[in-house]
Parts: sequence; C-alpha cells; structure tokens
Amino acid sequence: MPPEKKNIPAHIAIIMDGNGRWAQLRGLPRTKGHKAGTETVRAIVTRCRELGVRHLTLYAFSTENWSRPKEEVGTLFDLLNSFLKNEQKKLLEQDIRLKVVGDIDGLPLVVRTALKHVIAKTAHCSSMTLNLALNYGGRGEIVRACRALVAAGVSPEEVTEERLTQELYTVGQPDPDLVIRTSGELRISNFLLFQSAYSEYYFPDVYWPDFTPEELDKALADYASRQRRFGKTGDQMEAWEA
Ligand code: IPE
Ligand code: IPE
Ligand code: MG
Repeated sequence: MPPEKKNIPAHIAIIMDGNGRWAQLRGLPRTKGHKAGTETVRAIVTRCRELGVRHLTLYAFSTENWSRPKEEVGTLFDLLNSFLKNEQKKLLEQDIRLKVVGDIDGLPLVVRTALKHVIAKTAHCSSMTLNLALNYGGRGEIVRACRALVAAGVSPEEVTEERLTQELYTVGQPDPDLVIRTSGELRISNFLLFQSAYSEYYFPDVYWPDFTPEELDKALADYASRQRRFGKTGDQMEAWEA
C-alpha cells in the first residue's frame, strides 16, 4: 500500500541500474535487459502520476555511459526513440510534460529531433513533469552553471546558491525528496550532485527491470517513515510539524 498523500514526495529521482545484470542472469544479451527496462519505465511513470508525484527524474544515460561499446549505446538510443514514438500519446493523455536534464545537443540528431518534438507537444501538460536525464553528469552540470554565471558577468558577491540553481538543468523544479537506485549498488554515479544535498536515499536490492509499482510502494512507505531534519534536532522538527 502506498503512503498517505501528504507523505508522497514532490520529486522522485531514480538511477535505473541493473539492466545488464538482469539480462545476463537469464543468459540474454545486455540489450534485452535495456528493452525490459523500458517496460519498467512505462509502469513507474504511470504509477508516479497516479500517486500525485509532481516531478519524476529518470537517469537514462550518463556522460560516462559514452564509454560503453558502440552497439550498446546504439541500442539505448534506438530504444529511447521507440519509447518517444510510442509514448507521446500516453504522455499527453496523462497530462505529463517531458523535459531533458542534460546536454541535449550532444545527442544523436534523430534522438534530439524526437525529444524536441515530444517536449514541444507536451509543454502545456501540468500534472507531472518527467525529466529524462540524458547525456547528464552532475559535475559537468555544475561547471556549466559556473560558466554561465561568468559569461553573464555576475560578480563574486552575486554568486549565491539560489543564483547557481537558476543555471542548473532542473531550474524551476524542486530538489528531489527521494533518490532511488536499483540493483544494489550503493553509489550515486554523478547524479544530481547539487540538487540531492538533502535527499533521502533508497537502495532496493532488485535490478531495474524488476522494479515493479509494488517495489515503488515499498520505497514510498520507507520514505514516509523517515524524519528529514535539514540540520535541526529531531525535537525541533516535531515541534515544527505539530
Ligand atoms: C542501467 O543498467 C542502464 C544504463 C546505465 C543505461 P546497466 O546497463 O548499467 O546494467 P548493469 O549495471 O550493467 O547491470
Ligand atoms: C548510472 O549507472 C547511470 C544510469 C543509470 C544512466 P551506471 O551503471 O552507468 O553506473 P556505474 O558505472 O555502475 O557507477
Ligand atoms: Mg550499471
């Protein structure tokens, strides 16, 4: 059972990991794992939307993932292309806005074109924002933001956390409340470094293709049982919540 609405995170960010191992365990090529992973994406997007999550960020391709074999990278982008083609209608029906978090200009032309098309088509949707982290790296994002500040002639005194936040890919969106990484790995792999400063983390021991909506419910129940303190004491938080 999912938790009550007031405990639903406004922003969930997910490191979708373990597709390759899921496939290898079954004697299948890694690409089959990525294909199975896209089914999970569909199910989790729908579930988040039903639960009233306002922002969902899915880490789909890191700047470091370019170093994988060319064929695997090609398959990932082919799958992304079919996903965009097949899901556009459903995104519109579900009133979901698509965004890209990452350097879209560094993506292959066909992918970039398909993304821009769906982004434009869904720009008016307001029930949930689906951020696809593509060609994304957290350190690169911070460097890019610093460059933008310098280029805009911002003086040292004017460089604040708020000002820097405005140059991040996630500008205008709240920080993730909950970051989930599937597959049992306990690392963040360059994901939302600035934004996740106070996020709660959850590391389920399942590969991404096995991360069902029931697994998401478990993550949300765990999240609902935690007390976020933001540097304060537990007593202070209880007084504030009362
Ligand atoms: C996640 O699964 C998908 C991407 C990183 C694109 P992996 O492909 O990393 O799967 P494992 O970690 O090798 O099992
Ligand atoms: C993180 O997974 C990136 C994505 C899920 C897109 P990786 O599989 O690339 O991470 P590492 O290499 O195990 O840290
Ligand atoms: Mg991996």
